[in-house]
Amino acid sequence: MDPMDRGIRYTPGSSDKDWEQADTFLPASDNQKLEKKRGPGKVGIIVAVVTLAAVLALIIGLLVWHFHFHKDLKSQKIYTGSLRITNQVFVDAYENSDSAEFKELANQVMAQLKSVYSESPQLSKYYVRSEVQAFSEGSVIAYYESEFAVPAGQEAAVDQAVNSLSVNKFRRFEEKQGPLVFDHIVSSALDTRLFSKGRTSMRFTQHAKSSAEKIITSPGFPDKPYAPDSFVQWQLRGDPGHVLKLSFDTFNLEENCSNDFVRVYDSLVAVDKHLMEEECGFYSPSNPLTFISSRNVMLVTLVTNKEENFPGFRARVTQISQDSSELACGGKLSGTSGSFKSPNFPSYYPPNKTCQWDIEVPDGKYIKLRFPKFMVSTGSLNHCSEDYVQIVGKSTLCGQQPANTMVTVNSNKMTVVFKSDSSQVDRGFNATYEVFEPTDPCPDKFQCDNKRCVNPSLRCDGWNDCGDSTDERNCKCDASMIQCRNGFCKPMFWRCDGVNDCGDDTDELNCGCKSGEFQCKNNQCVSEKLKCDGNRDCKDGSDEDGCSRDMCKDSTFMCSNGKCITKPNPMCDGQDDCGDGSDESNCNCGKKAYTKSRIVGGQDADVSEFPWQVSLHVKNTPHVCGASIISEQWLVTAAHCVQDDAKIKYSQPGTWEAYLGLHTQKEKPKSTKRLIKQIIPHKNYNSYTYDNDIALMELDSPVTFSETIRPICLPAATDVYPAGETVTISGWGATREGGGGATVLQKANVRIINSTVCDELMSGQITSRMTCAGVLSGGVDACQGDSGGPMSIFSNERMYLAGVVSWGDGCARRNKPGIYTNVPKFRAWIKEKTGV
Ligand SMILES: *[C@@H]1O[C@H](CO)[C@@H](O)[C@H](O)[C@H]1NC(C)=O
Ligand SMILES: *[C@@H]1O[C@H](CO)[C@@H](O)[C@H](O)[C@H]1NC(C)=O
Ligand SMILES: *[C@@H]1O[C@H](CO)[C@@H](O)[C@H](O)[C@H]1NC(C)=O
Ligand SMILES: *[C@@H]1O[C@H](CO)[C@@H](O)[C@H](O)[C@H]1NC(C)=O
Repeated sequence: MDPMDRGIRYTPGSSDKDWEQADTFLPASDNQKLEKKRGPGKVGIIVAVVTLAAVLALIIGLLVWHFHFHKDLKSQKIYTGSLRITNQVFVDAYENSDSAEFKELANQVMAQLKSVYSESPQLSKYYVRSEVQAFSEGSVIAYYESEFAVPAGQEAAVDQAVNSLSVNKFRRFEEKQGPLVFDHIVSSALDTRLFSKGRTSMRFTQHAKSSAEKIITSPGFPDKPYAPDSFVQWQLRGDPGHVLKLSFDTFNLEENCSNDFVRVYDSLVAVDKHLMEEECGFYSPSNPLTFISSRNVMLVTLVTNKEENFPGFRARVTQISQDSSELACGGKLSGTSGSFKSPNFPSYYPPNKTCQWDIEVPDGKYIKLRFPKFMVSTGSLNHCSEDYVQIVGKSTLCGQQPANTMVTVNSNKMTVVFKSDSSQVDRGFNATYEVFEPTDPCPDKFQCDNKRCVNPSLRCDGWNDCGDSTDERNCKCDASMIQCRNGFCKPMFWRCDGVNDCGDDTDELNCGCKSGEFQCKNNQCVSEKLKCDGNRDCKDGSDEDGCSRDMCKDSTFMCSNGKCITKPNPMCDGQDDCGDGSDESNCNCGKKAYTKSRIVGGQDADVSEFPWQVSLHVKNTPHVCGASIISEQWLVTAAHCVQDDAKIKYSQPGTWEAYLGLHTQKEKPKSTKRLIKQIIPHKNYNSYTYDNDIALMELDSPVTFSETIRPICLPAATDVYPAGETVTISGWGATREGGGGATVLQKANVRIINSTVCDELMSGQITSRMTCAGVLSGGVDACQGDSGGPMSIFSNERMYLAGVVSWGDGCARRNKPGIYTNVPKFRAWIKEKTGV
């Protein structure tokens, strides 16, 4: 069959011989019998006539139903699989599906498959066709698909028949079915998303040779986005004795895997039992995405739906000898410390792989094993029977484990086994081991239950330093901390913010309002009478939520002209719902290229995650301050970044250069550079109190927005951020006062802190032009923003500039909040100065 036809053809039932079965549930014939038994009589005859008429009507109805609708009730079911033919020898011509040799063997396989199916009542009845898609070495492996037209209700029985065929019956059938001896059958139902009607289908094949690498790309890449509604397959092969390595250097698909996705199989046919991974979304080149097969074949599929087409992907295919050191793993380890990792770490390990490490340290010492990263697939079963790491005699680990998971053995020997099965791979693990003295596992340190050792000063400081919280158990807290009933201490500023930081709600007790008062979502108390009075009495407007009156509720959109739009998500949908265009203005803002990073605990931002982030440099020096893009020509930064000091005229536009679309500081030469035309600091900026710490910078020429350069949305002047809300800060970690920054853009989530509480904590230095935020409770990572950089909040599917990094300890120091310029307070000022 023409491969171009695959997947788009709909084949109705092969015959109607299953028709009788389908109608047995109808009661017609039984009714008739029942009536007859009562014996004829006048009433009886009338009843019989009426019944007869009814039966006739029923039969006619059935016939109409049969001819009009019956075929729609059968569904197309495709099974893919592979089987080994043990009594054939592979010849090169089998690689080419047009060769006479391929066709001859394919026909034999199909004929034999058909006669195997004929032994099963379910399968023979619904069988439509089979197609051999490829052969590979070993002796000969055939990859095929079989199609069945299955009436509604029969799917499970057919599934079961196919499954039992693969496991039990094949061998029994082999003698009488034909000349080929089949062995090792794997088959499963093909995901319906891979053959939906109307999809264009394409198939490519590539054979990697020893030296050269092959490139595969999504159709149209890089000139145009991939086509909608298509199903593309790449059959990849290498020489016998080799495995294939697939390395994506660009990967940018729609973020929702239900719509567009790439699948990689350890097979030449899309069989779920050899599915390695499904991927969608965006991967930055710094997050390597490579796959290694277990044999000399691999299949890559791309499925797209109608909407939203993205740039697609490019990948390199190389072959690696099975003896290559790149694939080697396991072995003997000794000494007092060392490390090892899963094959291909930090990218995906190959399927069907076993590695064993035997660690032996000097006599009398014990071994402590630590996994900085640990991601091992649990497949669909969600327990450690598929892929796992076993520390022999101690424990078995799988799934995602927290960073630095520890295992210790009270012995000087340890055996670690890693095993992957034939499907569902993940990024694997790296591990380090070191020895410890049996008598003193944590010299001069606090020993956590999980055997980690932490500095004694970290005990009871409100932070989970151990990872298992044991350093925070049974604490006596000092006055600056909340004493939780469960023995934890938490920073006072998390009191009554609507988030259960203690874990037992102690920090959220007695926060409620008096009787006759209404508690707003932000915990503010207002008189009950003010609820639903049409005024926003709670700062967050929650006293007007859900009130049935003609005004803008929480879930509706308020236009600039005051009109309320009830349609969900009216913003930026291409229709002027407001009449004044305010729902369609500024639609380019606040959208990031979708990014996905599963590296646990990491805080590097992904490429294009914060496309509005700007790096400000004093000419010919490193990064000094951050800023945010709000339009083609305007940036927002902090006023304190543009104050002169004894040496440098920071207030002069000529001092500065701005780098846009930058991810790591090293890439400066590749990023978009602009000079500054004018700087407008807020005229009420106070350099002692940092009040009104905001400034605007105009670029010397406009920038063109792209994947890596986009504006952030400005919040409405009325926006209020309730305590407890999560916001994100980003930057390279520099402050005007100095201090080395990071190379890669950093990000961290922080939480808004109640300003009354913050003001107390900061001895009355907080004004209404400032917002306080601190790290998420229990976090262990220090975080970095930069002066002038954005504090972004996610709302309505976009990011808004909630704050500008101003002063305080950021979140680098424990128990101290960071202070941010409260951007909503400056909305009118920004409009006045820039028109944005
Ligand atoms: C993904 O797309 C499917 C189908 O279009 C939709 O039902 C689902 O809600 C989407 N998921 C997300 C997270 O957007
Ligand atoms: C897994 O690999 C072993 C050799 O290491 C091989 O004998 C076996 O057939 C492979 N299993 C599968 C399912 O490919
Ligand atoms: C483990 O892997 C992570 C991620 O690749 C890396 O950052 C870390 O340095 C590695 N640690 C060790 C001890 O190899
Ligand atoms: C902060 O908390 C106090 C009670 O501790 C409350 O009275 C006040 O309304 C809160 N402020 C905000 C902005 O939520």
